[in-house]
Formats: sequence, structure tokens, C-alpha cells
Amino acid sequence: MNKKIYITTPIYYVNDVPHIGHAYTTIIADSLARFYRLKGRDTFFLTGTDEHGQKIEQAATARGKSAKEYADEVSAKFKALWDDFDISYDCFIRTTDENHKIGAQKAFETMFKNGDIYKGEYEGHYCVSCETFFTDSQLINNEYCPDCGKITTLVKEESYFFRLSAYQDKLLQWYQEADDCVMPKAKKNEVINFVKQGLRDLSITRASFDWGIKLPPFLGDSKHVLYVWLDALVNYISALGYGTDEKNFSYWPASFHLVGKDILRFHSVYWPAFLMSLNLPLPKHIAAHGWWTRNGEKMSKSKGNVVNPREVAEAYGLENFRYFLLREVPFGQDGDFSQKALIDRINSDLGNELGNLLNRIIGMSGKYSNYELDSSFVLKFYEKDIKAVDAILDNVESYMCELQTNKYLEELWKVLTIANQSIAIYEPWVKIKEGKKEEAGAIVALAANLLAKASILFSPIMPKTAQTIANSLGFKLDTKSYEKLIINKELLDKTVITPTAPLFPRIEKELMNTPEPTTQEKEIKKELISADKFFASKIQVGVIVKAETIEKSDRLLKLLVDIGEEKPRQILSAIRAYYDVESIEGTQVCVVANLKPVKIMGFESYGMVLTAEDKNGIALISPQNAKSPGSTVK
Ligand code: MSP
Repeated sequence: MNKKIYITTPIYYVNDVPHIGHAYTTIIADSLARFYRLKGRDTFFLTGTDEHGQKIEQAATARGKSAKEYADEVSAKFKALWDDFDISYDCFIRTTDENHKIGAQKAFETMFKNGDIYKGEYEGHYCVSCETFFTDSQLINNEYCPDCGKITTLVKEESYFFRLSAYQDKLLQWYQEADDCVMPKAKKNEVINFVKQGLRDLSITRASFDWGIKLPPFLGDSKHVLYVWLDALVNYISALGYGTDEKNFSYWPASFHLVGKDILRFHSVYWPAFLMSLNLPLPKHIAAHGWWTRNGEKMSKSKGNVVNPREVAEAYGLENFRYFLLREVPFGQDGDFSQKALIDRINSDLGNELGNLLNRIIGMSGKYSNYELDSSFVLKFYEKDIKAVDAILDNVESYMCELQTNKYLEELWKVLTIANQSIAIYEPWVKIKEGKKEEAGAIVALAANLLAKASILFSPIMPKTAQTIANSLGFKLDTKSYEKLIINKELLDKTVITPTAPLFPRIEKELMNTPEPTTQEKEIKKELISADKFFASKIQVGVIVKAETIEKSDRLLKLLVDIGEEKPRQILSAIRAYYDVESIEGTQVCVVANLKPVKIMGFESYGMVLTAEDKNGIALISPQNAKSPGSTVK
């Protein structure tokens, strides 16, 4: 059995800065890696950035940068955030790394030589935003992406294909045999149903742009670059040295590929098929989590409601944020972020249950035993309480291994509740009054031991908090303590308690610098359009060469406007109340020149003259200095 643990996050696209969704996956992965390290397992944790493809190329061009320049910039932002968040990754891979390129080319070459790749022509729809191919029948209203709703483009180009269809039965067999290969179960069933509907061969190269990894040189075909999803998936093995220095390859196969539900198909269908073709073992678990919304709404840049993880951590504390993310939602389900829900968790679970418990232990030990903590009499008086907690702890780890972090934390908080209750029920202050010093000391030590055991186990999720508690209670937070207190069910050695400042001061109001958008702000944001949309209008400078009134209309003037074309355009404009025909002739105006012609009161109008309007009426918009007819307005 491979005792090594290998945990991965998706590699993040560099067309976007990190948001709560990225932070969520990364923090789960980090907690899982810390959990296995605590258990003494040799663990490798990988994260990184996905930097090729049309989407990145377009995002770079829109900013006037080269794709590499832009990728460097955004990739650094991801890395800096994970470093500031103390994410314990062992490798941060970039798909622009040379070693990754070599690994990806080797993968292509191997699949090719194994007879799984052939050349053909791809014709179909492509969604640049999702970097995904779609068939006609998958599209919404014949042109929109079924996943993100954006418009797709029709692609017809030479392409290399991977024989995905040949792997349909093998994949189905794998899903059947490897019980938890796709988690949670409901998601696995969706994957199985998808595969059962039939798999088509997959286009795995693109020839119409070049921001990607070239095909391996032996093919002598420089027209193509690797399809970005093939390039990206291979990161999980190239990071271990596939094709280069394979000294870390003993970590393969992955123990956990953590992914969002939207990219599960790539990981649970394409990736295992590629691996089968490469004759490599398949991942143990591909685990898909749900999506975060904010105050019940989908997050998007255009709505301006995307949760910035750095901002949350700065306002509320990183450890609190980590606890909230892993406690709030069952793995696999969607979760909602709101400052109120976060504050509630901090004040109740962390402040009332955890922080208070530590304070009480410090306070009582100071009062009753000059901060000395002695566990010698705990079993004599309170064995059944310790046994009850050990029974909870016997079962709790399986929740973490199944990624049910909310259940895991819920169970650990039961231990804290028992500790708090035992103080309330056994009333050490009464024992002291009765002169039962040993028993009073045993109650404090009971509570301290329960807190220590819980802290060891929640340390992967809140490492700094657990460390502070360990420092205060006088034990070392390491694998040895884990084995002693959790596996061997022993108690703390005699120690001296060090008082520490209260851990979770109460939070009374919402703290984030950027307030949650108001309804009005959301409405404004909804109206935002992209620059592309704006530039779809062709606006040109024109000169009014003639103006006439129209019978029966006291609103309209019929204008002839020279916009530098062969003959002036006829444009109707509702400015009659503000301009008279003679004085307006010779005026420069701005004309929207690419509007569909319309008929107004029997006259064709071939464009629109721009005006400004307030409560005092309408004014034509003219360039500040005369410009030649036909000049563009931007
Ligand atoms: N580059 C690909 C992954 C390649 S892995 C070989 C990609 N990148 S991404 O940056 O767009 O998305 C990364 C992860 O963020 C995905 O797992 C996705 O599910 C997750 N999330 C994006 N928005 C999210 C939320 N609102 N909530 C939770 N996770 C979300 O896809």
C-alpha cells in the first residue's frame, strides 16, 4: 500500500485574481495536508496556476500585455496570497514552467505512441471562458454555453483527437470497482450517467492561436498547441517530475484531487482516461466541492459581489475564516458567505465555546493551583468523562478522511461542550470550599485534557490557534502528542499553564472595509457593459448640411448630415423644440452610424445624432474643435 499522501488543488486560471472559491479549495487542501502530516504521513501538497489558452491570451491582450507578462503578474498574486495565508504547499507549479512543458509533451507523445491520438478536423462550438468544446445539441439557444451562459464561437480547424470513446467501458468499470474514486456519491452518480450516455473522442490540440505548449518535436507539426485542459491536467504528474526528474514520482497516484463541481468532469472522465492511456495508476479520490454564493446570490465581477479572501482574513482573522469555511457547509454542497454568518460562528463557536474554555482553565488553575496542572487524579474521579470523549475521538478522523470537515469540527466541538459542561456540573469552586483540593484540580485538568485533545485534532484547520493553546497548556503540538493523547489515549504530563490574552474577542459589527453592496449599487453594477459592447457602436463626427421641419411633427427635424460618405445621411432627430432650421446648419454633431435604419413618420432615418438632456431641455453634442466629417468618436 502506498503510505504516501499526495494532495492537489486545481491550478487556478490567471485571468482572475484569487477569490473565496479559490481560497476554499486551497484551505481544505491545506487542512488535509496538515492533518496527514500530524498523523505522521509523508505528504506532498501541490497547488499552482494554469496559464495557457485562449482565455488568458485574450485577457492579456485586453490589458495591452503579453500573455507571459500578464501570467507572471497574476500568478505572483496567487502565490503571495497563499504565502500570506501560510498555505503549506510543497510545490507551486506554473504551466509555463519548463519542466511542466517537458512533462506535458512527454504525456502527449506517450499517448500518441500508444495509439490513442489521431489527426482529424474539429468542427463545433467552443466556449473560451470555460475552455470547453460543445456540440450543437448541448448549446442553449443554439449559441450559448450551457455551463457559463456566455456566447460560444464556431471553430473549424485541424485537430488531434484523443480516443476517449475507447475508454468508456474501462472508466465505468473503474467507477464501479473503486468505491470512493469520485466523492461525494451523488456527484459520482452524475459522472457515471454522463459516461453511460456515450463518450466522443476529444479534441486535444488547437491550431488557431499559439499561447500554449507546442506538440512534441518528434511530430514535426508546429501548427498546434496542446488543448489547455490536457496541458493543465498533466500538471498533477509533471509537478512530481514526470518526464524530467522523477524523484518525487513515488507520491503518485494522488490521494486527493480537490476540485470544484464545475470541473469534476475534466478530472473524473478525461484525466483518468489520459492516465489509463499513459499506463499510470489512477487517483484514489477526486473530490468535488460546491460553490460559494454571497448573501444568497451568485458571485460575479459584474455584480461586484465577489468575496476577496484577503479582505475577509484581514478584517476577521485568517484562522476564523478557515474555521468558518470548513465548518459552515457540508463538503459537496453549495455554501453562502455573509458577514453575519461569519460573525455568528466567531462569537458562538469560537468565542463562547473555545475561547471561554481556555480562559476558564487559565483562571481556575491560577486560583486553585498557582497555574500548575496535574492530571494524576483525573482518571480517579472522572474516568467516564474521559472515556466518553475518547469514544468520540475514535470515530472523528474518518470524517476528515472523507472530507466532511463540518462533521469533523462539529464532533470536536462536542468535546469542548463536554469540557465546559463538566466545569459547570462538577463545580470546582464548591470542591475548594469543601476542602477537596485534589478533586478541584482534577476538574481543571479534565477540562485541560479535553481541550488539548480537541486542539490537536483541530490544529490542521486552525494551526495558530491550536499552537497558542498548546503553548498555554504546556504541551508540544506535534505527531508525538497526537500519538500520546489521541492514539494512546493518555493524558497531559504535569505542566505549568501560561496565561494568554483572550483568543476570540467578541465582534459586534460587520468589519469588512468594502461594505456588502447595497441594492442600489447592485442595480448600477447590473447596468455595466463590457468595453466590447461599447465599441460595437460606430460613432462619427458629422456636419449638418441641411435641416427641415416635418409636417405634423412638432418634435422632429429631418437632417442631412455629412459624415464623410459619398452623400449625406438622412437622420431624424427630436430636437425641433430646441433648434431652428437655419441656425443649426453647419453645426458639427456626433452620429451613431451603424444603427439599423428605421422609418419615422414616413421618413427613413439612417443613424442617430447624439444629444445631452437635462430638465432644461436637449443640446446637441459637438466636438470641442472642428473635426473633419467621418472622424471617429471613442
Ligand atoms: N484552470 C482550471 C482548473 C485546472 S485543474 C487541472 C480552472 N481554474 S479556475 O481558476 O477557473 O477555477 C478554479 C477552482 O475555483 C475550480 O475548482 C472552481 O470550482 C472554483 N470556483 C470558482 N468559483 C467558485 C465559487 N464561487 N465557489 C467555490 N469554488 C469556485 O477551472
